Amino acid sequence: MIKPHGSDTLNPLFVQDDKARAELIKEAEGLPSIVVCSAAAANAVMLGGGYFNPLTGYMNRADALSVAEKMETTGGLFFPVPILNVVEDASSITGAKRIALRDPNVDGNPVLAVMDVEAIETFTDDEMKMMTQQIFRTDDMEHPGVKAFNSVGKTAISGPIQVLNFSYFAEDFPETFRTAYQIREEMAKLGWEKVVAFQTRNPMHLAHEELCRMAYKAVKADGILVHMLLGKLKEGDIPADVRDACIRVMAEKYFEPNTVLITGYGFDMLYAGPKEAVLHALFRQNAGCTHLIVGRDHAGVGDYYGPFDAQKIFDEEVPKGALLIEIFKADHTAWSKKLNKVVMMRDVPDHTKDDFILLSGTKVRAMLSEGIAPPKEFSRPEVAEILINYYRGLKEKPKIKLHKHSGG
Ligand code: ADX
Repeated sequence: MIKPHGSDTLNPLFVQDDKARAELIKEAEGLPSIVVCSAAAANAVMLGGGYFNPLTGYMNRADALSVAEKMETTGGLFFPVPILNVVEDASSITGAKRIALRDPNVDGNPVLAVMDVEAIETFTDDEMKMMTQQIFRTDDMEHPGVKAFNSVGKTAISGPIQVLNFSYFAEDFPETFRTAYQIREEMAKLGWEKVVAFQTRNPMHLAHEELCRMAYKAVKADGILVHMLLGKLKEGDIPADVRDACIRVMAEKYFEPNTVLITGYGFDMLYAGPKEAVLHALFRQNAGCTHLIVGRDHAGVGDYYGPFDAQKIFDEEVPKGALLIEIFKADHTAWSKKLNKVVMMRDVPDHTKDDFILLSGTKVRAMLSEGIAPPKEFSRPEVAEILINYYRGLKEKPKIKLHKHSGG
């Protein structure tokens, strides 16, 4: 199986030994503690699951600045974005060498991880601005990722962590939430060597389904890993449980048995386009995948990124050999009325815009909200039905609470 990033074997930071974990949980109750922000909690969940291998914890100021600027830690490790635990106010842990990190997304703020504090450092406004620009290519506070990054404080608590649980993800998504090591294990059992990962934060429509099939065939893969984001999203995005249901019904009905694994990871969406695509590639490599599909406007939002910027970054900015995973670069994919199937636009140069069925996200949302299923050339009817029910529920109960945990 493909090697993890930066080491020969995967070193997840979740404490797997039950006894050791129980002791740490006990110790944590007596430690000075701090409630972290949602992004830091998601980082802990990713570190715990081995997705951010070979990191051993949160980056310090120097590493974060270096990573933001040149995708490399001060020690020379390739990493696309800073992995931080920033807080507004660290006074509750002043002087402490060992602390407990509390989960902001679960009622009662239980301990998520134990941390050895190596440094507590505050970024200057200029440093925050530089990191924001480098990660998001904009500092516009209207950008949901920029806003989140700049709304949680500037003081970074850095050092190694030991992770004690997977926040709300394991409980809320028992069928779907998987760590990188669980995915490696599952793929090893299936005998999969060559695996194409599909990143998604949306329900899969026909173009996405076909995109997976195209990549699977093109690279002659043993399997497809559908790997969905289960963390926080911006307003208006489809919640993870609804999307999960859509993807499962689609996969069960339309994919060949034993060709696809439906899984998810606990991380809040950054909407960082190109830089997030590189992070996506890194953590799919850690999960044992050999290929990642990067299509149109990958991890994008609004008009902040060009439609294929997230592909270009791999050619223009990621040093050769920095990652072992390969990128399957997909062109805009849509139904061809001429050929009666989903195609990639680059494969049909004779087509004009009118030869495709193209529906904007806004248009699809409007249709579903009205109870109208998009055409079968766009969406599987089973998927459309789930989405129509979801939008109907929104109309009836606008403040619907979806999870037991207190977060998104
Ligand atoms: S993302 O934020 O998770 O990237 P989304 O779930 O919409 O958003 O996309 C998942 C993957 O499918 C991304 O690689 C994206 O580039 C790709 N994609 C989505 N729609 C299309 C399309 N019509 N044509 C080509 N690629 C697409």
